[in-house]
Formats: sequence, structure tokens, C-alpha cells
Amino acid sequence: MTILSNGHLWKYSEFIENKNFLFDKNKILNSLSKKDIDDAYLSISSWKGYSPTPLIELNKLSKELRLNKIFYKDESKRFDLKSFKALGGAYAVEKVSKGNKDIVVATATAGNHGRSVAWGARRLGLKCKIFISEFVSDARGQAMAELGADVVKVKGNYEKSLIECIKQSTDSNWQIVQDVAWKDYMIVPKYTMAGYTVMMKEIVDQINQNKISHIILQAGVGGMAGAMVAGIARYLDNVPITITVEPDSAACVLESIRTGKIEKIDIKRESLMGGMSCGEVSLVPWEILRNSVKYCLSLPDDDIAKTMKLLGNASFSEEKIIAGENSAPGVISLITSCENEKIKEKIGLNKNSNVMIIGCEGDTDQAMYQKLVNQ
Ligand SMILES: Cc1ncc(COP(=O)(O)O)c(C=O)c1O
Repeated sequence: MTILSNGHLWKYSEFIENKNFLFDKNKILNSLSKKDIDDAYLSISSWKGYSPTPLIELNKLSKELRLNKIFYKDESKRFDLKSFKALGGAYAVEKVSKGNKDIVVATATAGNHGRSVAWGARRLGLKCKIFISEFVSDARGQAMAELGADVVKVKGNYEKSLIECIKQSTDSNWQIVQDVAWKDYMIVPKYTMAGYTVMMKEIVDQINQNKISHIILQAGVGGMAGAMVAGIARYLDNVPITITVEPDSAACVLESIRTGKIEKIDIKRESLMGGMSCGEVSLVPWEILRNSVKYCLSLPDDDIAKTMKLLGNASFSEEKIIAGENSAPGVISLITSCENEKIKEKIGLNKNSNVMIIGCEGDTDQAMYQKLVNQ
């Protein structure tokens, strides 16, 4: 399979360099501490059913792009939730409950975070209330109900569901487990990020002697990207070139990096990359990302379905990979960067490069997955 020589150009929308780049390990580990990171690994690695997710080499793609190695962290195998999100919400539930079996946990969610909270509550035998907006699909609501959560549909958007969650939780003394931080609510979102850093610990154990030269990180509110940067500060001796990728309709990290302060995006069109369609970077990730991300990319939806299909039919690797909509942008970013000589040279992609890509999720929405790969 020739990926690049078929005349099709892989698209990106914007590429910028962070003029405030200054990777300071100590400062990063002030935002998410070594202890938080180590505690998360100790706990999660002892959970029933835990095993590291595979690190797959995209050897066919690295040959084609003339790079040394491309690693793909396959989170489709993460517990039975098929997404890295399983590490965050469920771990935050454990931390918040502190072994207390009588508490009720609550969250507002667009889907995947809520599934993790519901799953974490079931693991510990806790009651769970999930607030979803009227725009969250019935299938997603059903998936959380099947995990034993009481799912409450709220009229209006995500913000409305969060307001209702806070109101009812305050009235009833439920513990809120949100992944997004706001002023005065930082500790629980930090737990979710600490949970995500388990991916980096596993990666370090899996790459053997190889040094990662580049890492591409998908961003919604920036929790996953911020956590992985903290994981780099905690576990790696070298500092790979970090590149965030977002949908061009919701590039809140890119816009904030451009101006050096948090910028809010008015999302006019929902991206196919649903989990990444977020209008504002969260506070804790921002503290980490503002100086530690070197480059930001944004993408249109155009190449998502094709990439999922190519991953799924083993065009990039020896084995077939089930990759959801939010997994494809890492691969697209790499291909489009290699196709564009200026970007390729600027970020230093060459025959010595070992690139890490995060395959955040598998077919978390099976109907959508089938629809896209059969296009
Ligand atoms: C399923 C899913 N949800 C959400 C996100 C975004 O994470 P965050 O909001 O922590 O940046 C991603 C990937 O970036 C994802 O794959």
C-alpha cells in the first residue's frame, strides 16, 4: 500500500510554534506532582483486570515516511472501556471515596468520562449519578446506565448539565467527580490526569532502549495532553518534541498557545472527533501546556474515516488496529507533517526519529465506527 504517492494530500488547517516554549520539569511537576503520578500507578496497576495496553509499531508507515520508528499506544484495549478515559474518572472516584462505601458520586459528561466514573463507581460498589445534556445520544446514556449509574437527562447543553449536577449534588451531599478544572475545583481533575499518566509509565517500560524523539498528543480540554507531558517530566530522561493536535473547529489549545492566555472558542460546527470538540482548555492542563508544548496543529475532519480504515486493515502495521475517531488525528498529524517539507524540517522529522502516537480509543461508539470505516 503506498500511502503518500497516490496524489492525495493529507490535510492540516493550522500549524504554529509556541513562542513561550520552555520545558521546565520542576515547574511541570509542581502542577501534577511526582507523588500524584506514582500513587496513581500504584493503585491502578493493582486493579483487577489491569494489564498494560499494547504498544504497536506502525512499521509499514515508518518505512513509507522514512522515519526510524512509529509507536502507537493502543488504548482500545484499556480494561473493558476501550479508551484511556478508563484511567481517569475511575481513579478519581477511588481517590474521592477514600474507601467509604456510603458516598454517592456524580458527574456531568458528554459520554466517555461519565462511563469511566460509572465503571469506577461499580468497581467500588458506590451509587452513581450521571448528568447528560439532551444532545448526548441515547446509546451513550444507555452505556452508562448499563454500568449501574442513574442517568439524568437535562434540557440544554453540557454547561446546563454541569449546573444541574452541581445543584443536585450540593443539595444531596453527593461527591462531584469532574475531569475539567475551574477556580476552586482543581484536586479531582488532577486525579483524573494522574490516572492518565499510567500510559506514560507503561510506554517507558515498553520502548526498551529506544528514545522517543516526538510525541503527538490529542487535546480536548487538554487533560490527556497535560498528563502525558507530566509523565514525560516524571519518567523520561530526554524531552521529546511535543505536538498537540485538535479539530480545527475547536482548537482551544492552539489559540491559547498563540496568544499566551486562555482563549475561549465559540464552536460553530461539531467535529467528528467528538471527545476533542471542546471550547476551552482546562486550568490544570493549561498550567502545564502553556510552556511545555512546542508545536500545535489543527485538522479538518476530512481524513479521519480513511485513517481509521487504514489502521483497521493493517496498512500501517503488521496487525489490524481498531481506532476510533479520536485516535486517527495522531496518525494524520504525522503524515501531513511529513508531506509538508517546511514542517517536516522545522520539527526535525527524519530517518532517526522515533515518534509516539496515542491511540486514545477503540470503537467506543460501534455504530459510528462501522459507519466511518465502511464509507
Ligand atoms: C475519547 C476521547 N475523549 C476526550 C479526549 C480529549 O481529552 P482531554 O479532554 O483530556 O483533552 C480524547 C483525546 O484527546 C479522546 O480520545
